[in-house]
Amino acid sequence: VSLRPYNTFNLEVKARLFARFTSTDELRDLLALPEVQHTEQLILGGGSNLLFTKDFEGVVLKNEIRGLEIISQDEDTALVRAGAGESWHGLVQYTLDQELSGIENLSLIPGTVGAAPLQNIGAYGAELKDTFEALEALEKATGQLRTFSVEECGFGYRESVFKGPLKDKFIVTSVVLRLHRRAQTNISYGAIQTTLQDLGITDEPTPRHVSEAVVHIRRSKLPDPAEIGNAGSFFKNPELSQHKYDELKARYPDLPGYPVPGGMKVPAAWLIEQCGWKGLRRGPHGVHDRQALVLVNHGGAQGQDIRDLAYEIIASVREKFGVELHPEVNIM
Ligand code: EPU
Repeated sequence: VSLRPYNTFNLEVKARLFARFTSTDELRDLLALPEVQHTEQLILGGGSNLLFTKDFEGVVLKNEIRGLEIISQDEDTALVRAGAGESWHGLVQYTLDQELSGIENLSLIPGTVGAAPLQNIGAYGAELKDTFEALEALEKATGQLRTFSVEECGFGYRESVFKGPLKDKFIVTSVVLRLHRRAQTNISYGAIQTTLQDLGITDEPTPRHVSEAVVHIRRSKLPDPAEIGNAGSFFKNPELSQHKYDELKARYPDLPGYPVPGGMKVPAAWLIEQCGWKGLRRGPHGVHDRQALVLVNHGGAQGQDIRDLAYEIIASVREKFGVELHPEVNIM
């Protein structure tokens, strides 16, 4: 089966076996098949955080569990449950239609609801964990469903237990968010404020306005995977000790940074741009010309070439700044 339609890098790779599931029962049945049990399994959502460097010899299981509903509400908040196979942006739009706020800053993030908690998706001053209530996941070894609270998910910056100690042990089947019924917006991120002004929104912005501003910013900086293959930020933003940051800042007074517990986080895009990579094109693959953190496939690139470019970028940032970058994308 060609995986081309199922990875946003638009890479032409194949999977030996491929199946879809639309419910937890179908998932259990699939996992019980000997040909599934005895081979490597890859659970696929939107394929928007994956780089395939070769054909996949195991079985790809595509999560297509649907469903969007408000399961309960009190005066201030509503609990919304979404099936893991729903599109994340579809969920954002659903919540706006229901006049709920809390995830509008996460508009237009590619991928599915089920993939969102794995890396605690975040953008423009918000993270999934801020509104996360719980998720339900199927334990592969036992076929049992288990509920995880926010504490049990161990969320960090682009991190969760599902990338760490519980990696490949559970398959997320649904996610529950706690959203605000009285509009609460977060426009702390500078670019949201300036974009709202540019869009002529000068009064108190509604959650829908904030969503529109975020969509506007993303469209202006990030390539649309339907046109140019990519998986968003390829690297995480590194966290430096205060000492290391001060040392670099003395050498590079323009170095941006924002405080985090234990030090300073710096934009990997800035480091990469300083090394001269921004907009680089090597035949069909390269570095996006409006966001240096994004590696792109202009059409016909090979996954290995994109991976090799990523390693070259890591090496050059290490050499120039003594900073180690780590991929955010899952390299297969
Ligand atoms: N910058 C550059 N060169 C560039 C782009 C950015 O020097 O080409 C510097 C600028 O100083 C800029 C700063 O980086 O002010 C921050 O840029 P931006 O706001 O675009 O955010 P980012 O830190 O590069 C992170 C997330 C994005 C998220 C944005 C907005 C990570 C790995 N990436 O990028 O997430 O959309 O913030 O909040 O944390 C993703 O994960 O796929 C993703 C797109």
